[in-house]
Amino acid sequence: MAISLNRFIYPYFVTSTKVAKAEIQSFPGVYRFSINGLLNDIKKINALGLNKVLLFGVLDYKHNSGISAYKKDNIVAKAIEEIKAKFPSLVVFADVCLCAYTKHGHCAILKSGTREIDKKATLAALSKIALAYAQAGADWIAPSAMANGQVLAIRSALDRGNFRKTKILGYSAKFNSNFYGPFRNAANSAPEFGDRSGYQLDYSNRQIALKKIKEDIASGVDMVMVKPALSYLDVIKEAKQKFKFPLAAYNVSAEYALVKYGVKNKIWNEKKVIREILTSIARAGSDYIITYHAKDIAKWIKKENYSI
Ligand code: PBG
Repeated sequence: MAISLNRFIYPYFVTSTKVAKAEIQSFPGVYRFSINGLLNDIKKINALGLNKVLLFGVLDYKHNSGISAYKKDNIVAKAIEEIKAKFPSLVVFADVCLCAYTKHGHCAILKSGTREIDKKATLAALSKIALAYAQAGADWIAPSAMANGQVLAIRSALDRGNFRKTKILGYSAKFNSNFYGPFRNAANSAPEFGDRSGYQLDYSNRQIALKKIKEDIASGVDMVMVKPALSYLDVIKEAKQKFKFPLAAYNVSAEYALVKYGVKNKIWNEKKVIREILTSIARAGSDYIITYHAKDIAKWIKKENYSI
């Protein structure tokens, strides 16, 4: 099976500090970039043939209203504008969530002084963030908060704002997984108390995943997602067969880091193990794969006669 580079989406973390490119604990080969650092790196990956990126914002200023994610000069919107100005044909996906912007680190607005989700305030905040990123020029909005009703709310906010062409990638089947650790270091988004089991899916329950995917399709998404990928190949396969709908799989941060740790300890050949892993994700039925490996793969294809 040959997987075209067009099917890879490469994630980026963008931050408002001055350092062009900062290393991240437990996340080898992945960095937090300033906007300039990001533009430089995108130039490289674009020259290597990658044409899709997924952006996450990392902020020092956090407020439980999530305001830094949508206020006028917010970092992700700025990054999108600059990317689109320099690389107009690059497809930009913008993650929409609250965990990186709230002090408590949950993906929702909580009723003040409680641990209870304020549904209305959460949907309103997510809609504002989505609109800010659409205005900045994002091609795809990718809501990852797992808030009930988030797709309907965002779709209607985009339509009302005249962004009918802005598409939505639903993080439809996002499990409450142990494989998100390095990402939470990158986005500085680990929850301050409790966990995400109140809104992310129980990994022992296949049916709930299929139900969420069905709901997102009915709510108007343009593509659904299964996340993580490797422990969920059965869900990818079943979702693809059942709905025959565009599907992305997210090969998440700890799945990636495991490969790197194995390389460091010489337990496997990096290029071969990546080929096997990504082939399995494609074979299960994903049309697109969000993966931190994409940059290495593109480099190897260009410079080392690699194929995948
Ligand atoms: C949350 C979000 C998470 C990831 C992307 N968006 C994880 C979480 O629940 O904290 C994880 C991605 C990865 O591990 O690579 N909005």
